[in-house]
Amino acid sequence: MAVNAPVEIDRTRIRELTEREGTKLDERTGGSRAMYERARRSLSGGVASSYQVREPWPIYLTHGEGQRVWDVDGSEYLDFHNGFGSMTQGHAHPVITRAIAERAALGTHFAAATEDGIAVAEELARRFRLPKWRYTNSGSEATMDAIRIARAHTGRDVVLKIFGSYHGHHDTVMDSIGVEYDRIGDRDDLASLPYGAGIPQAVVDLTVPVPFNDAGAMERRIERLAEGRLPACLIMEAAMMNLGVVLPEPGYLEAVRELTSKHGIVLIFDEVKTGLTVAAGGAVEHFGVVPDLVTLAKTLGAGLPSGAIGGTDEVMACVEDGSVFQVGTFNGNPLTMAAARASLYDVLTPEAYEHLHHLNERLLEGCGAVVEQYRLPGYAVGIGAKGCVTFSPVRVIDYETFKAHQDGELTELSWLWNMNRGIFATPGREEEWTLSVQHTDDAVDRYVGVFEELAAELTS
Ligand SMILES: Cc1ncc(COP(=O)(O)O)c(C=O)c1O
Repeated sequence: MAVNAPVEIDRTRIRELTEREGTKLDERTGGSRAMYERARRSLSGGVASSYQVREPWPIYLTHGEGQRVWDVDGSEYLDFHNGFGSMTQGHAHPVITRAIAERAALGTHFAAATEDGIAVAEELARRFRLPKWRYTNSGSEATMDAIRIARAHTGRDVVLKIFGSYHGHHDTVMDSIGVEYDRIGDRDDLASLPYGAGIPQAVVDLTVPVPFNDAGAMERRIERLAEGRLPACLIMEAAMMNLGVVLPEPGYLEAVRELTSKHGIVLIFDEVKTGLTVAAGGAVEHFGVVPDLVTLAKTLGAGLPSGAIGGTDEVMACVEDGSVFQVGTFNGNPLTMAAARASLYDVLTPEAYEHLHHLNERLLEGCGAVVEQYRLPGYAVGIGAKGCVTFSPVRVIDYETFKAHQDGELTELSWLWNMNRGIFATPGREEEWTLSVQHTDDAVDRYVGVFEELAAELTS
């Protein structure tokens, strides 16, 4: 992961290539354009979620199978996007489609618990070393409920979060994300800013951001809050997955664990992205640090809407005694639970994780070798099924270094380049690839080959 002395990339060249590749993508996606014209008349912005918006139009898909997806123009892609990191099982995995079909024939919803939901909780408890579980229908619901549980458990209101970290779309955590560099604020007093309109200032004032990878800054901030504003919880990703991939520095997570325990702050690892992808037991297993609460979603449902909260007996007691209403009509939906059970027991097996690690190593090494050879300003970084090439001349360790150094133009070009060469890549400069158990060595080698073509073109 060493950052080599990079060549200076000609900015005009990046812009020329971006324009050329953008035109090429537009010309190839006339079917998506037509679908967008139709969609925007009834769907706001032509999409189901603002994260699906793309200028000049989104790419609409028809189907997926294994490691591939197809768009409405009939173009085939190797899928490294995998539904924003949800499809670690790959598309239409026969074990999952069978489990869904069998369950569908038996009824899909009762708003009553089923045995599948118990089996899923048992396996999650084993993997994440936390005994008590509840379900939700998305990652946002999981982090929202986890924060409420932490507030009830501690009797406190303030929420500590990592600056720049995304935890879903509810008010408390739509805070201090995507902030321009000059508004970040002083390291020891980072700005709490709403992410988008419609978030009450009173809620923003309850969220306090601190920098990633800096236990000292966290400790100073907690000490300043000690008089009457001690936080209920710290919500964080153990490895940040919404700034590309940013790994914790050695000792950081252990220091955070110690600090939060010392001040009675509930430590929540948001494993919506890391859980079930970086290891069978997510970041808890990978880094060996056990929080008080874990939130899951994405990969858990094997392509169906899902979410879960796991916790210690002590913290989850407020759910069990009825003081916190952790509720939802579709929580533990039988169809989702059948898919999750088949996924956990029969797809995401120890052998599957060996395969994912093998593929990711191959991909990271391949991309790293291209970076070295062409002396690109960047480095390859990842764990488990996830990784990326971060275009930055220095290593990104937190939001501030990301904002100061990540090359947004190069990241955008790289996405267009991939899309025009059959690689369905995750859009957005904060994203990374997610591999599936159905990916092959050939697919990974193709990714590296396409990246090398870009490197050659950029430096020729
Ligand atoms: C770390 C993290 N937490 C929570 C969420 C919210 O999950 P959802 O989109 O399922 O509500 C996301 C979504 O990308 C995420 O990356």
